[in-house]
Amino acid sequence: QVLVHPRVEGTYGIAVMHADFNDRIVVARNGSPVILGIGEKEMLVASDVAALIAHTRQVVTLDDGEMATLKADDFRTYTVAGASTTSTPETVEWEAASYDMGGHDTYMHKEISEQPDAVDRVLRGRIDDRFSTVHLGGLNLDPREARTIRRIKILGCGTSYHAGLIGASLIEGMARIPADAEPASEFRYRNPVVDPDTLYIAVSQSGETYDVLAAVQELKRKGARVLGVVNVVGSAIAREADGGVYVHAGPEVCVVSTKCFTNTVVAFALLALHLGRIRDLSVTDGKRIIEGLRKLPAQIEEILKTEDEIKSIAAEYAGAQSMMFIGRVRGYPVALEASLKLKEISYIHAEAYPASELKHGPLALIEPALPTVAIVPDDDLLEKNRAALEEIKARSGRILAVAHQPQEKADHTIVVPKNEDELDPILMGIPLQLFAYHTALAMGRDIDKPRNLAKSVTVE
Ligand code: AGP
Repeated sequence: QVLVHPRVEGTYGIAVMHADFNDRIVVARNGSPVILGIGEKEMLVASDVAALIAHTRQVVTLDDGEMATLKADDFRTYTVAGASTTSTPETVEWEAASYDMGGHDTYMHKEISEQPDAVDRVLRGRIDDRFSTVHLGGLNLDPREARTIRRIKILGCGTSYHAGLIGASLIEGMARIPADAEPASEFRYRNPVVDPDTLYIAVSQSGETYDVLAAVQELKRKGARVLGVVNVVGSAIAREADGGVYVHAGPEVCVVSTKCFTNTVVAFALLALHLGRIRDLSVTDGKRIIEGLRKLPAQIEEILKTEDEIKSIAAEYAGAQSMMFIGRVRGYPVALEASLKLKEISYIHAEAYPASELKHGPLALIEPALPTVAIVPDDDLLEKNRAALEEIKARSGRILAVAHQPQEKADHTIVVPKNEDELDPILMGIPLQLFAYHTALAMGRDIDKPRNLAKSVTVE
């Protein structure tokens, strides 16, 4: 019987062999993922399903504080204290082929291009035309309980946090439940008040991000209700949550998240519609949102066809030392995410600001050498956004606008198709994924493995 010494502290995911027992591997998990691959007369262990999928789709994901002993034809799981545990293998939903590059030069380009199909997948089988709502199996939130929710707090990191910001806007807009998003890494260290009437939602592509998992475990310890909006089925956060919505983006290999961001926002739109139609969202609005959701794959396809135009625009900005991204209300999280994409793969410094905040300081930065990317949807804030463009132009700032129609004050406009106001942020983010991609490509950057970054941050 092998145990982990009680004095071992911190997070770990370890696999050890002993010379005198070379027919077995002993593994242990505390915070860092450890996944067993259950093969035919072979057992495998890895930290990510991607490493196992070519050998087997039967996997067992260890929980924190769990160990396992693997032999060629058997495995046993138990706690680090030695008590046996039961772990039934799950079947990975993705095929090995979905990890191939698929003829693209990079995983990022492949994953950007996959978005129409990915959005199809997150919608599939979930729309209920009869009641103009959606069915979210696995949510584990019955209507009566859903009506008692007084607030929603969304937690995530990086791109998932940005998706959570749009998710909060969708939920507050459609379900009229006060909702906000916060970086999980901040939340757990500010000694938050955990409120029984608040529903907490953890967002994560990998489902293994330590800051999010630790926040979820802290919330569960305090009796909170936690849902997960997660991509990787059976991941730690998905298993720790009381229920949730899988985003079905398929495996996302590139370190920077693109299709999973889009699918996560669509998943939030589905959740917002579900909660809204349990409360006061009308049948008419439910139908309107459903029609908008159904148009997304074709509209994303339309945007992807403008890649050459986006590539030539990116070439004009590739030399910038820094860039400003601005948007208002629903457009601001789009600006945040686009700014992160550019930073992550081109290493150009970029920052995002609410357009209305420029005059409170950042306007001092505007000059020809600092281009601004502006999110300018045809919504109730169009004239306010155009006023911000005028302020920038008056100070000789260069402007790239992402809009539903060409913007007179912009040096370049990338026009995207109009959907429903609530869903426009999904479409406005797509061209800026390609903008970041082609800017980084023009600079010769390593697209899929940018420096200093990891795909899944399973440590603090
Ligand atoms: C995404 O482009 C980034 N690489 C990063 O911010 C990522 O979104 C963040 O680390 C959270 O990862 P998760 O979604 O797997 O939890």
